[in-house]
Amino acid sequence: MEQVKEIYEKYDGEYNRLIRHRMEFYINLRYINENIPGKNLRILDLGGGVGRYSVALTKEGHEVTLIDLSEKNLEEAHRLCREEGVNIYRMELGNALDLSSIKDDSFDIVLAMGPFYHIKEESLRIQCINEIKRVLKNDGKLFSAHLSKCAFFKYIAKAMPEDIDKYYDNLHHIIDTGIKKYSDGDIFTDNTYCENSENILEFMGEHSFSEGQVIASEGLVDNIEDNLQELKDEYFEKIAELNYRFCKDPHAVNAASHLLYKGVNKK
Ligand SMILES: C[S@@+](CC[C@H](N)C(=O)[O-])C[C@H]1O[C@@H](n2cnc3c(N)ncnc32)[C@H](O)[C@@H]1O
Repeated sequence: MEQVKEIYEKYDGEYNRLIRHRMEFYINLRYINENIPGKNLRILDLGGGVGRYSVALTKEGHEVTLIDLSEKNLEEAHRLCREEGVNIYRMELGNALDLSSIKDDSFDIVLAMGPFYHIKEESLRIQCINEIKRVLKNDGKLFSAHLSKCAFFKYIAKAMPEDIDKYYDNLHHIIDTGIKKYSDGDIFTDNTYCENSENILEFMGEHSFSEGQVIASEGLVDNIEDNLQELKDEYFEKIAELNYRFCKDPHAVNAASHLLYKGVNKK
């Protein structure tokens, strides 16, 4: 996990990432809110980063605990709270692989929108899901974020197609296995695990999560979302509302870069 920490300690773009990727934030948050059963719930935001989801859910009246590996992101979460005038119930450093400071059955909802795509070893993904199952109540809901197997291919094809020789073997390996074959010096993709919706549903099903669903976090617009960054809210909201209608479509899910899973914990 030291390298994952290092990624976020060095990266300066995390504070405003969900401002830049406003469609991802819109779709994920709307889907979470629509699938949360009621008010005043106890929510764990595991790998909550700078706290954009924690702040939004606190504003909805929930009691949110944010845990993250990165000191820098936690400091940024405090900054976001000051800027938004919001008090997140609890924020602390921690690792999703060891939640021993938290009692069993503590939460109604767990968001894990950071850990899974940074865990390359299956045994550690199992350790992580077992910790989540333990702290999540029976019938509690999990929302987890995943990077898709086509995410880096789409990125390279768009941003650096003339460098394809450098990435060619690794892109094949990611499509086949979810991870790179060898390091190409990029610390983010060196420490990333990619999946597709079938892998995610199978893994979660094996760990007794029911009612699984995977959505496309950007709907249909991930490769054109640069056009939406500066768009006036009145236009953005209509495009987002239309786009939301596609996020559960299996064709959109199979072609998406970012995936959001929802499932119900059965103990
Ligand atoms: C790309 S950020 C996403 C943050 C936030 N969940 C969001 O969706 O905006 C990934 C976050 O997950 C955290 N993270 C990754 N692996 C983790 C782990 N094993 N335990 C706790 N935090 C972890 C990182 O430190 C980082 O803040």
